[in-house]
Amino acid sequence: MTLRNNDLMNQRIDTVDISTNYLGIPLRNPLVPSASPLSHSVDTARQLEDAGAAAIVMYSLFEEEILDEEQALTRFLRHQDIGDPEASSYRPVPAAFKSAVERYLDQLALLKARLAIPVIASLNGVTRGGWIRLGKDLQEAGADALELNVYHISTDPAESAADVENRYLEFLHDLISQVSIPVAVKIGPQFSALPNFVRRLETAGAAGVVMFNRFYHPNIDLETRQVVPSMVLSTPAESLPAMRWIGILRNQVSLSLAATGGIHAAGDVIKMVLAGADITQLCSVLLQRGPAHLAKILAELEDWMVQNEYSSLTEMKGSVSQKKAINPAAFEHANYLQVLDTYISSRRGER
Ligand SMILES: Cc1cc2nc3c(=O)[nH]c(=O)nc-3n(C[C@H](O)[C@H](O)[C@H](O)COP(=O)(O)O)c2cc1C
Repeated sequence: MTLRNNDLMNQRIDTVDISTNYLGIPLRNPLVPSASPLSHSVDTARQLEDAGAAAIVMYSLFEEEILDEEQALTRFLRHQDIGDPEASSYRPVPAAFKSAVERYLDQLALLKARLAIPVIASLNGVTRGGWIRLGKDLQEAGADALELNVYHISTDPAESAADVENRYLEFLHDLISQVSIPVAVKIGPQFSALPNFVRRLETAGAAGVVMFNRFYHPNIDLETRQVVPSMVLSTPAESLPAMRWIGILRNQVSLSLAATGGIHAAGDVIKMVLAGADITQLCSVLLQRGPAHLAKILAELEDWMVQNEYSSLTEMKGSVSQKKAINPAAFEHANYLQVLDTYISSRRGER
C-alpha cells in the first residue's frame, strides 16, 4: 500500500470502481461512519463527507429517553397543580423547549440540508407504537433509510429467545408496512441461530442487517463499589466475528450486509468486502483519529485493489465468502481443534 506516488498507479486508480449498493441505495464507496456522536455536529459530518464518506448513520433516537422525558414533563406539570395557568406556582414550559424527538428531527433535517450524501436515521425503539410512530417521523423528516438499533438485554428467565426474536420481527413487520424507505436492523452477536434470524428479518421485509452492535458492559468501581457503565473504543481484533458471519450469510440471504465493529484500517474493510459485506461502518477509529482518516483508508483500499488487480468492488465482494473460500470449514467450528493444536505447537516451539 505504498505505491501511490507512481503515475501509472494513479492512472489505474481512476479505473477502479469502488461503488457499491446498500439497501437499494447506490453509494460511491463502502465507507460509512456509523451511528455515533460523529453526527452530532454538522461540521464533523461535512468533514466526513469531504473525506469521502459514502453515507452517514446518525446517532440513535432512543424511545426510552423520550418516554423518560415525557414522564418528567408530566411530573413537572402535576407538581404545579396540573399545569393550571391560574395556579400560583405555575411556571409555563419555556417556549424554546424542544423534546428529544424534535431535537433529533431538527438535526436530521439540518444534516439533510447540508450534506449531499444519504443520511440514515437510527432508532432504538422499545414499544410497537414507538417503532412505528418514530419511524414515520424520521421518514417524514427526510431520512434516506432507517437503521433499527436493536439493543435489548433480556434479564427475565421467563422470556425465551423465541419471545425476543418474535417481538423484533412483529415490530419490524408492522413498521415496514407503514414506511416506504428501506429499513436495516443492527443486531448484536448473541443469537443461537443467527442465519435463521437473519433470514426471518429478510422475510419480514428488512432491506439489510448491520452486524454487530457493540454493547457497553457494566463495570464495578472498586473505590465506590458502584456499578458503572464502561465504554471503551474498539480494537481491530473485534472485527473477526462480523467477518465470519458475513462470510457465512453472504450466499444464504439476499438482503444488504453491513459490517461494524473493529474496522480501523483498509485491511479490515477489504476483508469484510471479500467476505461479502456491501458496506463497512466505522466509528472508534474516526473518533480517535478524526474524519480525515477516512480518506486515508479509502486511498489504501484503492491501492490494494490496483495491486491485486481488482477493477471493481463488485468483483471483490463475497469472493472469499464461505461458499467461495478455498477452505469453507474455516468459517465454522470444524477447525477449532486444529487451531488449538497450532497454538500448542507454537508454544512448544518457543521453549
Ligand atoms: C461513543 C459511541 C456512541 C455510539 N452511539 C451509538 C448509537 O447511538 N447507536 C448505535 O446504534 N450505535 C452506537 N454506537 C456503536 C457504533 O455505531 C459502532 O457500531 C460500534 O462502536 C462498533 O464500531 P467501531 O468498532 O468502529 O467503534 C456508538 C459507539 C460509540 C463508541
